[in-house]
Amino acid sequence: MSLSPQLRRLWRDVTLFDGLCVRPAPMTVLVEDGRVAGLWSQGEFDERHAIGAVECGRGGVMTPGLVDCHSHLVYAGNRAGEFEQRLEGVSYAEIARAGGGILSTVRATRAASEEQLVEASLPRLQALLADGVTTVEIKSGYGLSVADELKMLRVARRLGELQPVRVLTTLLGAHALPPEFAGDSDGYVALVCNEMIPAAATEGLADAVDVFCEHIAFSPAQCELVFQAAQRHGLAVKAHAEQLSNQGASALAARYRGLSADHIEFLDEAGVQAMAAAGTVAVLLPGAFHCLRETQLPPIELLRRYGVPMAVASDANPGTSPICFPTLVLNLACTLFRLTPREALSGMTAHGARALGRPDLGRIEVGAPADLCLWDIQQPAELAYAVQPGRLRQRIFKGDLTHAC
Ligand code: NIG
Ligand code: FE
Repeated sequence: MSLSPQLRRLWRDVTLFDGLCVRPAPMTVLVEDGRVAGLWSQGEFDERHAIGAVECGRGGVMTPGLVDCHSHLVYAGNRAGEFEQRLEGVSYAEIARAGGGILSTVRATRAASEEQLVEASLPRLQALLADGVTTVEIKSGYGLSVADELKMLRVARRLGELQPVRVLTTLLGAHALPPEFAGDSDGYVALVCNEMIPAAATEGLADAVDVFCEHIAFSPAQCELVFQAAQRHGLAVKAHAEQLSNQGASALAARYRGLSADHIEFLDEAGVQAMAAAGTVAVLLPGAFHCLRETQLPPIELLRRYGVPMAVASDANPGTSPICFPTLVLNLACTLFRLTPREALSGMTAHGARALGRPDLGRIEVGAPADLCLWDIQQPAELAYAVQPGRLRQRIFKGDLTHAC
């Protein structure tokens, strides 16, 4: 069901989570021209605002559309065999060193055409949308050549044209060393800096640049070169940081005014301080923690103490987090990382948006883009409490009703 976004639309008596807080009383919400045009608590509403507005619903919980700020949704193939190997005790790093892991997805993704990648990725995107996502970041990183990385980014952009969702794209050329550069990781980093980043920037295909800073991927010095190249081309930076070991990648990202440092299980206090000073968002990825059966917890208490905003994202990918179910990820953020349900929800709305450099998103406030979800639940905490598909009653994207039950 899709109606004109120009309509005035009205919802009454909703319990409203605005991206940071739950409003104490039921609210009336008016949307016009794709934006939130008015918010009133019960008793404040002047019925003249309802004139000419379509009554879209009453009751339920309204949240901002979910913002999934870290995903690897575009890829071919799957890694179920590797999942079985890990259950038998082989580690993620051992599989990577043996040429599997990310490189096995690189082989499948290189072999796939753009059309095949769109077809493979669309159901994953639709699963996110059915569970409330209105903005998703999609990374490249399974191409690892100029042509294949650009192919992935074009597919990501195409997905955003095919579905009512805002797609932001991130070039993750420095994800793994491709086989043709074996023994020459500096040579590959030079390719990322001198060819991949300029090409993605010139073609307008990337909104940001990411790196995997880890002993099985790239060193802090190499990641710094990538950050410098990104900045020369006006692209924001972020990092897969401190996932398997403490490399100081979060502090490095902070030095480059990074949007976010993601994973951060091994982050130390100095890194937290650097992120706090730079306004770099901590992106928590409990799906990867869960699927890798990690035991090192991210320093949640330190992040709270220093006031670092915490985002929560799916990290949807074929290896460490084959999960396209955002509200399950909210549940994992609470059960595994001990976030409160409110923190988890802010992590996938207001703070997720900050991690994308889009603080205008992930909030319900007058003037904000009307990306909204209406859920069939009594209180916002239920989104993190229960793991249950089918609770999304309506999904509103840029003021347009894109999913209605
Ligand atoms: O976010 N850590 C590196 N990158 C991805 C996993 C990619 C993969 O294993 O395919 C992550 O966990
Ligand atoms: Fe990731």
